[in-house]
Parts: sequence; structure tokens; C-alpha cells
Amino acid sequence: MAEDRDVINSIEEIAKELKDAAAFIGSRVINRDEVIEQAFCALLTAEHLLLQSRTGVGKSLLAEQIFNMFDGARLFRVQSSKEQQPDTYFGGLDLEQLKAGRIVHNTEGSLVEAQFGFIDEIFDANDFTLRALLGLLNERRLIRGVQNEPSSLHSVIAATNYLRVSEVTEALLDRFLYKAMILPDKDPFIQYKISQRYLVHGGKPAAAPKKIPFKRLKHMNDIITGHADDFSIGITAEMLYFTNVVIRHYEFLRNRSLHEKGKNVAGSDFYISPRTQAKSLDLLRALALLKGRSNVVHDDVSKLYFIFTTVGLPEEMTMFKKAYTTVLNSLTASRGFDQVTILLDFTELLEDIKADPSKMNTPLSQFSGTAVRRSFFEWVKEKFGSEQPADANKKTLEQFLTDFIPVCDEVRELKSSVEKTFAQTMIVVERELNKVRS
Ligand SMILES: Nc1ncnc2c1ncn2[C@@H]1O[C@H](COP(=O)(O)OP(=O)(O)OP(=O)(O)O)[C@@H](O)[C@H]1O
Ligand SMILES: [Mg+2]
Repeated sequence: MAEDRDVINSIEEIAKELKDAAAFIGSRVINRDEVIEQAFCALLTAEHLLLQSRTGVGKSLLAEQIFNMFDGARLFRVQSSKEQQPDTYFGGLDLEQLKAGRIVHNTEGSLVEAQFGFIDEIFDANDFTLRALLGLLNERRLIRGVQNEPSSLHSVIAATNYLRVSEVTEALLDRFLYKAMILPDKDPFIQYKISQRYLVHGGKPAAAPKKIPFKRLKHMNDIITGHADDFSIGITAEMLYFTNVVIRHYEFLRNRSLHEKGKNVAGSDFYISPRTQAKSLDLLRALALLKGRSNVVHDDVSKLYFIFTTVGLPEEMTMFKKAYTTVLNSLTASRGFDQVTILLDFTELLEDIKADPSKMNTPLSQFSGTAVRRSFFEWVKEKFGSEQPADANKKTLEQFLTDFIPVCDEVRELKSSVEKTFAQTMIVVERELNKVRS
């Protein structure tokens, strides 16, 4: 329906809306700005958030206040306990079906049919129930026995006072891309402000002056994930490469620290899965959107600790920030970023050649086309003065790499990967061109 369409005028406009909502939450829940920003990232990327802390630091209040800022969405609340069975989350069992030996939940009013979920004391739930929850959290489907239904679930915020370690809780932790640890507030002034809020609102969330329609949140999620037809948020190839180098460096620092502490038992190394790494791109775009930008900048990468660390744990966060600054400094100090751009452009050129090896028979300068390849062709001109004859193309490409002197380790590594790509491309090219010749 056309009138149901959410209309966004500009990225700046929605950024303002989100900023106002976050500020309002921050005025009710004191000293939680960072986790509020993290929670917004979780909502924007349609992921789940786990809050951990000692008792009474406002986890429940925070979750309620966050969900309170949206309308047009159903919130499913539950307090977990050991005795509960999956039907607490998925709806009561259909008795007629049960008589026939089939387990079918009547999902009406359950977590399956909600957009938001608040699961309090999640680790109190038994492993059987938690295991059943995994699929719903991950696939957004209820898959149990003969039942297989889509779920409208967007984001869950779960809270806990402790972490219980079992095989299933580990898998569960993995479903919460965003995690925060809230340390109790010791500062008397903060305590004072919390008490002041209590006098006004009791323990309840405050009524939001303006709510964000849920369909708008969905729309923002579409923009972030590249599924919207009105706006998109760009990430350049250099930014992607930079991001991956930072993540890898962070992984290295974490493992080195495990090693130093003697905690690097086999199989327990710190590992970032390609899935998580891929999801970091959604987070980057969410961070850009929150800042009202339609492109990702370096500074956004510095906030990736929202998913790569438990927010609130200083040691992990410091390590991530260190990884970020180390790589940033290394690449900016020299002409590192320019070099990364040049090499990535060059690999694009190689990809084109691989896709169409006959291109090797035409002078390279003829397929310069885009501005993207300028760096390479500038070099060709400088080196050879004019267009190259077809059979010299390979030498030209090769020479470009030989002449390329990396300014730092990050670029040196990229160069050696590009050299491999080059070698592979030439194998494909030779095979294809030989086919044509014979
Ligand atoms: N940062 C805060 N800002 C405002 N109020 C707070 C804050 N922290 C605690 N409070 C006050 O403490 C009360 C208890 O908080 P809440 O129940 O949300 O804590 P909790 O972390 O969920 O505790 P539990 O682990 O026992 O469930 C709140 O209703 C609120 O009045
Ligand atoms: Mg609570």
C-alpha cells in the first residue's frame, strides 16, 4: 500500500530523529550513553543485544525505555526461569495436534509474533529451552518438529546477572552480536541524578514525547543493508580493506594477550568468524547513518568495538582502539592509503582481464575507462610515454607491480596478495588466449 510507505527526506533528518530519541533515553537512564548508542546500532542492524551487570543497575529500565521510543511494534516480555518450557516463548501447544502426536505452538501473542523481545534473566532458562530459542534468534523462524513459520522478530534485548557456561549458552552468546557489561555507578553525583530521576518517574520508563514508527526503523535497516531504493550508504574499497586490517590486527592483539596470560589453550583462541566480520559492514553503515552521513569514514571503524568487544570491559575496548590507531597511523603517516587505493584499482583491472582475457590483445589504455584506473594508467604513461602494443601488456602489468614500493607493512601485505592474483590471472589469460588461437 502506497500510503503505508515510510518517506525519509534525508539521512540527516533521520539521524536527528535517532539522536533525539537517544538523548531522551539518556535523560531517563543516567550514565548509559555508550550502551544506548550500541543498542541503537543493534536495532538499526536488526541484531540482538545482551546486557550483563550486577543487580539493580537499570538493565530492565534501559531495555523498557529503549523499546518505549518506538510505536507500531509489539514487545514480548518474559522473565526466564528454570521450570519454563519452550511454550513460554513460542506459545501454548495446540492440544488437538498434540493428541495426534504433533507438537505445534499456537504462536499468537508469543515472541514469534513480536517485533521486539525483552528476555530478563535469560540464563535462568534451562538448556532445553535456550536451545529451542537459538533458531528463532538466528533465523527469525520458528522451526520445531513439523512446525516451520516465519517470525516477525526484529531485535531482542536480553539481560542477565551472570554468565552460565554450557554448550548451549556459548551458542546463545554467539546469537547476541552486541554485548555490554554495565559496571555499578560509584560516583555520588551520578547516584544523585539516578535518585532524582526516581523521584520523578518511580522505577518506570518515561513517556516519550515523540516515537519512531517501527516501519521507519525497518526502512532504516533496509538503507543500512543496501535494500532500500531511496537511500544507500557507501563504503569504498579502501575503507573495506582498512576495516579488515584493523579487525585482523585486533584479533592478533587479543590472541597475543591470551598467550601472555597463558590462557591460549588449544581451540580457545580468540576468533572472529567471517560471519561476524561481514556483519561489521552493517554496523559501519549504521554508524554512518547515526552521524547523518551517506558514506562510511575512518572514524566509524573506530566504533566497531560495539560488536568485537563486550562494551564496558575496558581491557577489550582499549585493545580495539589500539588496533584502530595503530593501523590508521601506519597507513596515514606515509602515503599508505593512496597506495591501498592504487593496488585495489589494479586488482579490479586484473579481474576485468580475467573475465575477458581477450582484453589482453588490445592496448591496455583502451580499457582505462573509469577514473578508478587513473593511477595505473598515469604510471603507464610515465613509464612508456605512449600506448603499449598488445603483446607487451603482460610486461606492463608486471612491471607496475615490480615498481610499486610499499610504504608500510599493511600495503606490503596487500601487494603480495595482488601479486598472487596477478599470477592467477595470467594463468587464466594464457589458457583462454591459447584456446582462441588453436
Ligand atoms: N542508570 C540509572 N538511571 C536511572 N535509574 C536507575 C539507573 N540505575 C538504576 N536505576 C534505578 O534502579 C531501579 C532498578 O533498576 P532495574 O530494575 O532496571 O535494574 P536491573 O539491572 O534490571 O536489576 P536486576 O538485575 O535486579 O533485574 C530502576 O527502576 C531505577 O529507578
Ligand atoms: Mg532487571
